[in-house]
Amino acid sequence: MKQIKIGLFGLGVVGRGIVQIIKDARNAHAEIHRICVRDINRPRPIQVPREILTDNPDDIFNDPEINLIVEVISDAEASYRLVTEALRRGIPVVSGNKAMIARHLPELIYLQNCNNTALLYDASSCGSIPVIRNLEEYYDNDLLLEVKGILNGSSNYILSRVFDHGEDYHDALAKAQRLGFAEADPTFDIQGYDSLFKLVIITVHALGVYVNPDDVFTAGIAYISDDDIQYAREKGVKIKLVAQVVKVSDDRFTLFVMPEFVSPSKYIYSVDDEYNGVVIRGECYDRQFMFGKGAGSLPTASSILSDVMARLHDYRYEYKKMHYMGLPEYTTDVRLKVYVRYRIPEQIAALEFDEISERYQSAAHSYVIGDISIANLIKARHALDNRDVFICNIPRFFLDRD
Ligand code: HSE
Repeated sequence: MKQIKIGLFGLGVVGRGIVQIIKDARNAHAEIHRICVRDINRPRPIQVPREILTDNPDDIFNDPEINLIVEVISDAEASYRLVTEALRRGIPVVSGNKAMIARHLPELIYLQNCNNTALLYDASSCGSIPVIRNLEEYYDNDLLLEVKGILNGSSNYILSRVFDHGEDYHDALAKAQRLGFAEADPTFDIQGYDSLFKLVIITVHALGVYVNPDDVFTAGIAYISDDDIQYAREKGVKIKLVAQVVKVSDDRFTLFVMPEFVSPSKYIYSVDDEYNGVVIRGECYDRQFMFGKGAGSLPTASSILSDVMARLHDYRYEYKKMHYMGLPEYTTDVRLKVYVRYRIPEQIAALEFDEISERYQSAAHSYVIGDISIANLIKARHALDNRDVFICNIPRFFLDRD
């Protein structure tokens, strides 16, 4: 059997997990041959032989023994440069960089085809849950109706600590950072962008359609307040950050990321801490549920190792669904029911509701519940940026079915 010789970029939380997991794996036909880091002399909480460290990417690109590059650096721009360089040279790559992949996927697919090589990235979405390869291979049919779930471990960890343990939001965020769940810039987690990038990647493998992340409505938990938590408790629901791609008709689908009121009957209600949960709904099988650790060093490294092992058999994504006839079209012409909590009316003046079903006003906080289209939410999103406004979806698509 062939031996995989890895050139590793990055020795942060995930990189260290990879080094450990490959060292401990009994049957891994893989070894780490070289590691490229920014600063060779930096003290690290892991022992690696000094001679395999380099700060020069060419030491990896030009090493004829290296037959796989694993890239787990957090800087999306640098990741783009490394991954495209490797693909141009025909070297297969395993990457976990969801921001980079979601932004450049059409070009990355093109480069794989032109250079007859592979880019695998199951670790980019939902940590240890093998969601990408399953969507690509198993759900290769037109029965898929919806993929919906908790895709960000950090936000879920924060919400669990705040909701179930009464902890302070900022303390919980600091813990998520200490435990290695959060991104280098945690605003990506709490403002929903990390979930968005994962959702864009999932959509390509679920429905065969690439949607530019800039065209997707995204709201996070950054402005959740005690008032919102109190409201949810009174209604007997939890607040979760949910990403979803949904077929709204035979030929149209939508996707968005937004906090959601989740009732106890739903699978994702019990997904707590840094765990992720993904519900896949289809025409014949109703619902299936995948659950597992979505963030952290070893869970993410386990997914990287799975992609590394897949390369032993020359596995690559074929993006078969992208070549199907009659792919569904992305639409934002979909009405949602949302709860919007605000402090002063000017904060939400940009929102054009089709219908308002409930209003509450007090000196401290106010909220409105109403119907609004996703197109309108997208139009108004910049007016809502960095304001103390919390938007939460009140699900009614396929009510009580997920
Ligand atoms: N920051 C990410 C999360 C890491 O919290 O889910 C895993 O992608």
